[in-house]
Amino acid sequence: MAHVVLKDLVKTYGGFKAVNNVSLTVNDGEFVALVGPSGCGKTTTLNLVAGLIPITSGDIVIGDRVVNDLDPKDRDIAMVFQNYALYPQKSVYKNLAFPLQMRKLPRDEIDKKVKDAARVLDMTHLLERKPRELSGGQQQRVALGRALVRDPAVFLMDEPLSNLDAKLRVQMRSEIKRFHQDLKATIIYVTHDQLEAVTMADKMAVMNGGFLQQYDSPAQVFAHPMNMFVASFIGSPAMSLIPLQASTANGNTVLTSAEGWTLKLSPRNARKVAGATTKKVVLGARHSTIKLHKSAVPGSIPAKAYTVEPTGDVTFVQAFLSGAIVNVSVPPTITVAPDEQIWLEFDQERMHLFDGETEMALKAD
Ligand SMILES: Nc1ncnc2c1ncn2[C@@H]1O[C@H](COP(=O)(O)OP(=O)(O)OP(=O)(O)O)[C@@H](O)[C@H]1O
Ligand SMILES: [Mg+2]
Repeated sequence: MAHVVLKDLVKTYGGFKAVNNVSLTVNDGEFVALVGPSGCGKTTTLNLVAGLIPITSGDIVIGDRVVNDLDPKDRDIAMVFQNYALYPQKSVYKNLAFPLQMRKLPRDEIDKKVKDAARVLDMTHLLERKPRELSGGQQQRVALGRALVRDPAVFLMDEPLSNLDAKLRVQMRSEIKRFHQDLKATIIYVTHDQLEAVTMADKMAVMNGGFLQQYDSPAQVFAHPMNMFVASFIGSPAMSLIPLQASTANGNTVLTSAEGWTLKLSPRNARKVAGATTKKVVLGARHSTIKLHKSAVPGSIPAKAYTVEPTGDVTFVQAFLSGAIVNVSVPPTITVAPDEQIWLEFDQERMHLFDGETEMALKAD
């Protein structure tokens, strides 16, 4: 396996920058997810690494080689796509063997590689079947197997699970994760599904509009989103973002809403707000950090329940606050009715504060 370095990578189409100065390092054996909304440049980035499209500027290093000008076949990579692109007339065995025959490997070596891959992916019993005799998940496993037999330095995967139904997707998610753990493979995995990225990857590269927004472990990105985009994209239901005005009097910093309520900040949060470029501050809170009360408690803010969504384990309540939608989760034993008056209490230790102008997270020091 090998590490991959992207350095100031740019791809323009006409005047449009699909990939905008992306720099990141994927360490040897690491599973990195490129994640972001549709059109943010994930596939373009992956295709640049694969060599399927030429770069506009920057560098791509795989292992110890700069591969900018190498053909895909010379980059020592294997790709797995959303549509498995299997040969319909060939058996699973022949689908796996074909790329190796093209490389003119000896027949017994091909046989060993195919059987090894089939064993790793638990599909030895499927080797004689044709793709049409396989389920979607099994077909996806064959596509993985075809990448595996090539023994590449890096696996590149573009939304490999998005053609599968929800249940199979969850199952294949853990299979790919297992595949990574067993092989200690270097994997770059594109997905628009933040949950896939969070659950599978060692690190996630969150992209938006061609820019890399944040590159870190899922836990770190979840706990410390750099800006409002990352905060709202990672986590489900999305983090609530409430626009407020900051003011300080007599040593106390408060956030005031257009509706008239105020929230007094802890000293640490007040220090964060002191670094804002203007008085505009956005309060961010994840659903699990907001307490819902049926009557006023000190520090709580009045709101009205808007929708109530029981999911079995937990009930999600949406409320409007200062023009923003706020998601709160409560145990299923608590019943809330739409339009019911409720009070919300924010956790000062776990709230996020953003600069309303720059949309960047505010820091205490
Ligand atoms: N050949 C092309 N010519 C012009 N623009 C392109 C071309 N390929 C991609 N783009 C544009 O570049 C941007 C990034 O596209 P890309 O396919 O990388 O997005 P993505 O993040 O993979 O999205 P999705 O989640 O929908 O697959 C999009 O705005 C797209 O329209
Ligand atoms: Mg794509």
